[in-house]
Amino acid sequence: MLSAAALLFGACCSNECQPADSAATQASNAEAVMNNILNRKSVRSYNGDTIPAAIMENILRAAMAAPSGMNIQPWQFVVLTDKSQYETIFEGNGNMQKFMESGAIVVVCADTTVTRPTRENPDGPAVTSPNPMWRDDVAAVTENLLLAVEAHGLGACWTACYPFPNTMAPVRKALGLPDNVVPYAVVPMGYHDGTTQPKDKWDPARIHYGRW
Ligand SMILES: Cc1cc2nc3c(=O)[nH]c(=O)nc-3n(C[C@H](O)[C@H](O)[C@H](O)COP(=O)(O)O)c2cc1C
Repeated sequence: MLSAAALLFGACCSNECQPADSAATQASNAEAVMNNILNRKSVRSYNGDTIPAAIMENILRAAMAAPSGMNIQPWQFVVLTDKSQYETIFEGNGNMQKFMESGAIVVVCADTTVTRPTRENPDGPAVTSPNPMWRDDVAAVTENLLLAVEAHGLGACWTACYPFPNTMAPVRKALGLPDNVVPYAVVPMGYHDGTTQPKDKWDPARIHYGRW
């Protein structure tokens, strides 16, 4: 009796007094999320099928749910679905030819500046300054995006754009990006044959408890 009460008390404290069966729901939610994360893999071959707009919106919704330093949310996205556009952003980059059958390509971009009133003068005019955390923010966005792709049964591959000048240049030009916007990652995605397997990267030796 005591332990049942203690369990109930614990559940209420840790779970904002949700119904008693929520532990089972939580376990199943946790399993689904873990499966999603552990099944994500870089897929580099697609069948060319287009991605429905509702699925693309979900993927971008997940991307924009990412955390960001000071909640600045510096991300912008350019969604491409036309092969002629793929050609222009891949210009001179032979490694990207394998992605020509992508159902879509999302270019994750970052506004490297932030425009807001200053701390010293919070009621004053907005001032534009560099945002030192934009790289971290768009990395989180890109991972969220990959996980949402996986959740929808599609595959994707994070391909580096920033910080390589030769890779960024054709993307910048083709997409007409403003100077303060960096093309961070080019993410081809699409339906695939399901043969690519996730890698097992679990390595307890990488974990240091307390100190190195
Ligand atoms: C910052 C970054 C840049 C990457 N650039 C490329 C790339 O240019 N081309 C590519 O095929 N894969 C690229 N990848 C995918 C990695 O090769 C891949 O994540 C890694 O091999 C681990 O495999 P997994 O994603 O299947 O777990 C990149 C991944 C990251 C995080």
